[in-house]
Amino acid sequence: MTANPQISREQVLAALRDVQDPELHKSIVELDMVKDIQIRDGVVSVEALLTIGGCPLRDTIQSSIEEQIRQLPGVRGVQVQLGVMTQEQRQTLITKLRGGEVSPMHRSSFLTADSPTRIIVVASGKGGVGKSTVTVNLAVALRRLGHRVGIIDADVYGFSIPRMLGLTGQPTMVDQMIIPLEKDGIRVMSIGFLLPNEGEAVIWRGPMLHKTLTTFIGEVHWGDDLEYLLIDLPPGTGDVSITIAQTLPQAPMVIVTTPQLAAVNVAQRAARMAEKVNMEVLGIIENMSWFQASPADPPVYIFGRGGGLRLAELLGVPLLGEIPLDPAIREGSDTGEPIVTSHPDSPAGRVFRQVAARLVERLPMKVG
Ligand SMILES: Nc1ncnc2c1ncn2[C@@H]1O[C@H](COP(=O)(O)OP(=O)(O)OP(=O)(O)O)[C@@H](O)[C@H]1O
Ligand SMILES: [Mg+2]
Repeated sequence: MTANPQISREQVLAALRDVQDPELHKSIVELDMVKDIQIRDGVVSVEALLTIGGCPLRDTIQSSIEEQIRQLPGVRGVQVQLGVMTQEQRQTLITKLRGGEVSPMHRSSFLTADSPTRIIVVASGKGGVGKSTVTVNLAVALRRLGHRVGIIDADVYGFSIPRMLGLTGQPTMVDQMIIPLEKDGIRVMSIGFLLPNEGEAVIWRGPMLHKTLTTFIGEVHWGDDLEYLLIDLPPGTGDVSITIAQTLPQAPMVIVTTPQLAAVNVAQRAARMAEKVNMEVLGIIENMSWFQASPADPPVYIFGRGGGLRLAELLGVPLLGEIPLDPAIREGSDTGEPIVTSHPDSPAGRVFRQVAARLVERLPMKVG
């Protein structure tokens, strides 16, 4: 008979380092969620503390713990008991997650110069040109390239990101800290998650708008591993755009426009605002560029031609891509499946992926 190898507390703790809290994106060991470990006759008992009672992901946490420990040699059984943190333990955790910072405007790491997070603001002059469509599809494309991605739906009055991603529900709150919702690994915050139903109207004036946006930027737990944060702006150069520019000075911007030459002047206003507030325009994305009923048919230029290129030339920035009209894009935005998810190899899907790759080239990850 061979004796069971001795399992040590350190081994168990090391194994638990690989278990992440699915919402906070950090190891449960690092988060001080492991309260107790007992080992008796090869049976490992773990007591872990959840941040809140009724945590929606408690089953996931429990099974990840069990799975990790079972892999250790000599383990004959695993028992997991889940408790809930006290108010004080939660406060310590929040302070830790915020990197010990006290100033509310510096709680999110990407507000500091050494943050690894790259921000991309998606703007337009006119409404309805496809900013939100571009935002969700670029997010999926960046995710497919292996990046950790977040979206802020800054269109507070006209929010559409939740529907476009098929994302409903309310964000988990850990005391005052909001945990973004997640779809296919994309972290998302929208006012839509905080309203009782989608048809509800937001009727706020400036200060409330400002407060909501700075909360989304500074007090949502985006995670310090976030690589790209896309911000979907409302059309034009109103209050929201000003708040974003003030809160995230120097954030790079892409401008979405249609091919219509008459729209170039309107689109230019977004660029002029960017210039005034020191935001860099990374490039232009032309949307609704043409329609082709089938690959054999000639393209039809429903909204004219050349607007994207014209704007790019005027601003001295690259035209990052031209996206065709495709009914599947509209359907996808109603059903919550962006075209890059449902048809990544369609002509439009490919352009979105190329644009994402070009953005990564322009905004490479910061090393270290
Ligand atoms: N290339 C495309 N092909 C087909 N439909 C498209 C395309 N781009 C956008 N759409 C559709 O056009 C509509 C407007 O797009 P979207 O909501 O993305 O524009 P927006 O610029 O964000 O609008 P708003 O200014 O209201 O925020 C949506 O129904 C969307 O599905
Ligand atoms: Mg929109």
